Amino acid sequence: MKKFVFKFSTYVSIFLILPVLKLFGKKFYESKVLPKLLTVLCNTKPNHYQRKKVVPLAIGDVVEIGVGPGLNLQYYNLDNVNKIIGIDPSDELNKIAKKNANKVNLDIEFNLSSAESIDLPTSSVDSVVCTFSLCSIPNPQKALKEIYRILKPGGKYYYCEHGISPDLSTRVFQNVTNIFYPKLSGGCHANRDIPKLISESGLKILEKDTMYLPGSVKFLGFNYWGVAIR
Ligand SMILES: C[S@@+](CC[C@H](N)C(=O)[O-])C[C@H]1O[C@@H](n2cnc3c(N)ncnc32)[C@H](O)[C@@H]1O
Repeated sequence: MKKFVFKFSTYVSIFLILPVLKLFGKKFYESKVLPKLLTVLCNTKPNHYQRKKVVPLAIGDVVEIGVGPGLNLQYYNLDNVNKIIGIDPSDELNKIAKKNANKVNLDIEFNLSSAESIDLPTSSVDSVVCTFSLCSIPNPQKALKEIYRILKPGGKYYYCEHGISPDLSTRVFQNVTNIFYPKLSGGCHANRDIPKLISESGLKILEKDTMYLPGSVKFLGFNYWGVAIR
């Protein structure tokens, strides 16, 4: 029953409430609505369950791409981590991330920039973590090339993303909603082929798991997670 209510309210929000809020103007929508929306959508129990599968694996000098509101920060294994740099262009989400970093007493350097152009030397980091962000990065191919570039040879990319579904009916729905959903969601595309994008960057996928997250609406719920190596 709880799952049904959550799914129903997600659909009502996406197809009814968000379009109405959008009418109040771009500035209001981007500064007041989007940060809260992303924090709520990313803060579900199944999403946290997914985070716990990949984030604690990061070691050494770590870069988190699309760190957003900092919902992963509590899951780093600080015994294995030397330094964390969080990259995200959103100032509003960065304010929330700073609060979350303080809550877990984490010393993290935030970099308000885009994954498509990372201001770090080639072959300089041991791990890159990216969760639920490849969907929203405007040019994921370019971002993944940058991730490849900054990773040391043998460095690892830990990922967890929602993406294209293996089921035809859901794929059709994802492709149709892709016409307008990115405009309501801060650029989130429901239909990206995550393994293909990762492989095309030159990274080699070592582990890949998939499943629909319980309680998620189907078109946003098909998850890919695992590890790729440079
Ligand atoms: C759905 S949120 C996910 C946030 C966080 N990774 C998480 O797991 O909760 C997508 C994030 O991607 C970020 N983003 C969008 N474009 C980006 C870009 N070009 N480079 C890096 N991050 C970007 C957004 O600001 C947002 O924080």
